Amino acid sequence: MAVPPEFIEDLRQRVPLSDIVGKRVKLTRKGRRFSGLCPFHSEKTPSFSVVDDQGFYHCFGCGAHGDAISFLRETDGLEFMEAVERLAGMAGMTVPQSAPEDPQRTRQRKAALDILEETAKYFQAGLQRQDGSHAARYLQGRGLGAEVLATYRLGYAPRGGLRAALSARGFSDDDMLAAGVIRRSDRDGELFDYFRDRVMFPIEDRQGRVIAFGARALGDAQPKYLNSGEGPTFSKKNVLYGWVQAREGLRRKLPLLVAEGYMDVIAIQQSGVATAVAPLGTALTEEQIAHLWKLHDEPVLCFDGDAAGQRAQRRALERLLPLLQPGKSARLAMLPAGQDPDDLLRSEGGDGLLKVISTASSLIDSLWTSLAAELDLRQPEQRAEFWQSVRGQVRQIGHNQVRSAFADEVEARIAAMRAAGRGLSRGSGGAIPRPRVRRPNAGAIHRHRAICALILAHPALVPDRYESLLQIDSADAALEALKKAAIDAVIRDPDLDAAALRHHLQGLKVTESIDVLEGDEMKARMPFDPGTLSGEDAGRQLDELLRLVGGASGLFSTTATVPR
Ligand code: UTP
Ligand code: MN
Repeated sequence: MAVPPEFIEDLRQRVPLSDIVGKRVKLTRKGRRFSGLCPFHSEKTPSFSVVDDQGFYHCFGCGAHGDAISFLRETDGLEFMEAVERLAGMAGMTVPQSAPEDPQRTRQRKAALDILEETAKYFQAGLQRQDGSHAARYLQGRGLGAEVLATYRLGYAPRGGLRAALSARGFSDDDMLAAGVIRRSDRDGELFDYFRDRVMFPIEDRQGRVIAFGARALGDAQPKYLNSGEGPTFSKKNVLYGWVQAREGLRRKLPLLVAEGYMDVIAIQQSGVATAVAPLGTALTEEQIAHLWKLHDEPVLCFDGDAAGQRAQRRALERLLPLLQPGKSARLAMLPAGQDPDDLLRSEGGDGLLKVISTASSLIDSLWTSLAAELDLRQPEQRAEFWQSVRGQVRQIGHNQVRSAFADEVEARIAAMRAAGRGLSRGSGGAIPRPRVRRPNAGAIHRHRAICALILAHPALVPDRYESLLQIDSADAALEALKKAAIDAVIRDPDLDAAALRHHLQGLKVTESIDVLEGDEMKARMPFDPGTLSGEDAGRQLDELLRLVGGASGLFSTTATVPR
């Protein structure tokens, strides 16, 4: 039985967010908000603020953003229901009773977690043993240092002895079977250790508890990788390998990669230039995509550049599109054919990986080029087929605003192709040029500039519009930096007027953008002068602009109306 949404709403209102955050972060009151050092990244001056009456927190440093429940989930690693129960406890309320879990199952799950933890320790110690020296040498030969081995708790499963070791600690065969660390032979009914003579990768949940294992053969034994079966602790579609370690990496603001294998994840983390997670031998599931977006708004999915990698890329796109949300996306990177990130790091080092990350395609470009690659676009009927399939993919997007933003973008690209095609039929000859990848359209960027100009002239408009101001993204880094700096300043001091704000911004490296906003081109384009508008009129203009660029990213905004 699910908890009624009204109950959760009630909880959010009863427990001030600052009480919850205050247990972890020292908060100082600043007018209607509180500020403190962000618990999601390391910093020396506070950029983290909590707004009680709107029930959200936001960090201007790392972008962490959410409410009471997400705070508890992120900082304490709680599941949704656990977070709800914690809040209910603080409010002195009881969560409406859901069906109690079967006590036998609860006990077995608990026993399995204990067994898996003991087993992980046993395997870790295995790397130090005489009969594990070939495994230790193997890992060393793959370039893994002591630090990552410890962080990911890698180990070695000897040829036997686990069952006896666990029995000696008082665990029953039944519980070991349920935990998946031993099996019963079909042939003779004997119990045997499931993982034998393999390098062991403990798979952890988001609280860092061992819930399963991946195991790599050392020689040519088959299968190359053997994973725990589904069980009381493990449902592979819900798990991303390396989640906890990636969260640590993200505190250092590293890009987040999605790789295919255990070794890739570890090698990427060790490189220090990025952090990574991986699904467990399958394509990304819906659940895993949702988990990914809790870590990062725009993870970079890596694919091998061979034919299988291209198919995998298309599958990933099809999985992602229905799930897209405003501000949540992904980029897709193709590696040189036949290489995984681990190979690439060995041949080209961290710089090679950074290059792949920086050249990863946006979702729309990946979609466009992967569909185009299948067809001969010089043929009119194939062009039509291409348009049909791109439009078909866009219709799969579940979120209304994101879908219409993608549709606008796709229609603009199709129109450009058609224009080029007409040129062709008039006899200009040659191939259809590959459609230009559009930059943010001019209308959109000017709307974003106008928004900035309005908040610079009327800082008092900011507090009531934090959420929407933060959600929009002009895709222009300098302008975004200016916007963030301005909002940040107003959050710290809500009484700043335009002159004080300007003075404050002068000290930061954003003045170039201010010059653009106040330059002649903007003056010519804006139907109003922000400085002479009344606060009320400026507010109306700002809301209209926010509505126009709102929701999806500025890249996809529709035709310009205000200002021109
Ligand atoms: P790969 O075969 O590409 O291996 O499998 P890899 O990750 O590059 O490993 P190394 O570098 O040879 O050690 C990629 C992923 O597919 C899953 C595993 O999750 C693996 O990490 N896999 C592969 C299996 O589950 N079973 C297999 O038999 C093979
Ligand atoms: Mn590999």
